[in-house]
Amino acid sequence: DLLALHKLNTLHLHLTDDQGWRMPVDAYPRLTTVGGRRARSQRGPDGPGRTQFDATPHEGAYTKAELRGLVRYAAERGITVVPEIEMPGHVRAALAAYPELGNHPERRLEVWDRWGVCETILGVHEEVFAFCRAVLEEVMDIFPSPYIHIGGEECPTSEWESSPAARERAAAEGLANPAALHGWFMGRIGAFLVEHGRTPVGWAVSGTELPLDFAVMAWRDASHARAAARRGHRVVAAYHRTTYLDYVQSEASFEPMAQPGDPVTLRTVHDYEPAPAEWSREERARVLGTQAQLWTEYVRTPAEIEYLSYPRLCALADRSWSGGRGDWPGFVERLRHHTARLDALGVPYRPLDARSPAATTYASPSSGTARPLS
Ligand code: ACM
Repeated sequence: DLLALHKLNTLHLHLTDDQGWRMPVDAYPRLTTVGGRRARSQRGPDGPGRTQFDATPHEGAYTKAELRGLVRYAAERGITVVPEIEMPGHVRAALAAYPELGNHPERRLEVWDRWGVCETILGVHEEVFAFCRAVLEEVMDIFPSPYIHIGGEECPTSEWESSPAARERAAAEGLANPAALHGWFMGRIGAFLVEHGRTPVGWAVSGTELPLDFAVMAWRDASHARAAARRGHRVVAAYHRTTYLDYVQSEASFEPMAQPGDPVTLRTVHDYEPAPAEWSREERARVLGTQAQLWTEYVRTPAEIEYLSYPRLCALADRSWSGGRGDWPGFVERLRHHTARLDALGVPYRPLDARSPAATTYASPSSGTARPLS
């Protein structure tokens, strides 16, 4: 409902990662029964001292009926739900459920309970491709989205480099080295999605490494969106320093615990130009749009999600639909009226003039303004 209110037309649902697998797959039931549960979770960022953990199991997965219901509810409001299944990295939860999909089939792994980039990745034997195809067939059955996201980023290749089977596979495929298996892997799965009439989407590693039929989500470096567009990709501009809402909104000490890094302020989000005027017309035309990301390692409550999202998502919507240079004073003036709508809807947004913890509602389960996320 809030996306529709802000005329945002896409919900990108990140369904799998090292720390959990959240969509049931009939062909591989252990993905959710085993991969959907971790015994404990890292608490706070990695520091110079010892990493802290809670002692609370964290588990859960959607049902297929819930996901279909979400797709339908969104469609009625003009919103497409784009699902993401990560591969060949960010798969530790899948490997905990099915160790035979990894590079060390004999190794037993737990669903990861830390944050960051995990070394364990999928193997490159044919059973792995059968797995990816079977999972994606069930994904396509639930999600009519023209775009299917298959992740692809933060995939250390050390396991392939030290695996005789992976090295043999790289040689047999005529690849220069085992690291080149990454592009080969993404290309194979991308081609499978294209055969099924869908467009594959990947997180850009450099902006220029994926086959051209991939739409590219450029997040890591501000230059990657243009590099991808110049090469001929369709691009979603999602530079992390301007669109990642898991960073704090200000330096104030009362902000909730967040991804370490400088603040991404309301102004930063509003200033972001997904397709700047100095790009060529062809490059600009390839930008599908922009999007905000909210990773939830540090988020404790649904109210906190909304505190992080609003009003920064209002800024993203304003900029995405206005194009050109942003009208910041005009936006702030309009936002002062728009917050009346957020108030009426009970959205625990970050107040525009937040100066003290008393002004924030994000961590107060008893505030009465937070609604559970469905
Ligand atoms: C990402 O932030 N791992 C895309």
